[in-house]
Amino acid sequence: ARTAAVIPAAGRGVRLGPGAPKALRTLNGTPMLIHAVRAMAASRAVSLVIVVAPPEGAAEVRSLLDAHALPERTDFVVVPGGQTRQESVKLGLDALPPEYGTVLVHDAARPLVPVDTVDAVIEAVREGAPAVVPALPLADTVKEVGPAAAPGEPEPVVATPDRARLRAVQTPQGFDRATLIRAHETVTADVTDDASMVEQLGLRVVVVPGHEEAFKVTRPLDLVLAEAVLARRRL
Ligand code: C5P
Repeated sequence: ARTAAVIPAAGRGVRLGPGAPKALRTLNGTPMLIHAVRAMAASRAVSLVIVVAPPEGAAEVRSLLDAHALPERTDFVVVPGGQTRQESVKLGLDALPPEYGTVLVHDAARPLVPVDTVDAVIEAVREGAPAVVPALPLADTVKEVGPAAAPGEPEPVVATPDRARLRAVQTPQGFDRATLIRAHETVTADVTDDASMVEQLGLRVVVVPGHEEAFKVTRPLDLVLAEAVLARRRL
């Protein structure tokens, strides 16, 4: 079966500070979205990339793709996105032709994921997992907090989950096409990733090793790190 990648890139990137939509900000002169598109197209298995653009920005994203060198063997489609990530992914899936049996969903905000990670996710789906997530162990201990007793008071810690059993989850997440479409048609709860929708269907989601360069560019310091990673790759 063929493999396509859906790239939700419709977020505003408020946490990065004021400026263009996050996916259009540049890293070493090239828009983050172009890096993310190239990261998906770098896999020989990926023959279609569907970019979900900011709702008013589809034409701009189309000309951006046309203006950058991209692999000839891959098709690129641009569709307008929605108000939430979930809605944006669903709009991308609506543009998926029937011959694609494996679907990756990859955040535009993870522009530097190495091709080996992409291929490991695809491989696990092809071996039969309905949903696959790349994940890394946590460096920090994580606490669950409760509401503050009064405004201005500190939040109390209510629990410390065992760190050894926690993973930080990245993208691309990989899916059997029918499973992901069913998840997006069925699950209406707010979620922050696609695999959790498959979990809510009661289906098996498996983990493959993630990569530290697949980190999400979220805050201003992440831009500094991303540009340093790019500079190191050019050495
Ligand atoms: O906000 P967050 O960092 O979780 O966004 C993850 C990805 O989802 C980003 O690539 C962002 O552009 C995308 N997104 C989207 N449509 C939205 C909100 C976020 O495509 N309405």
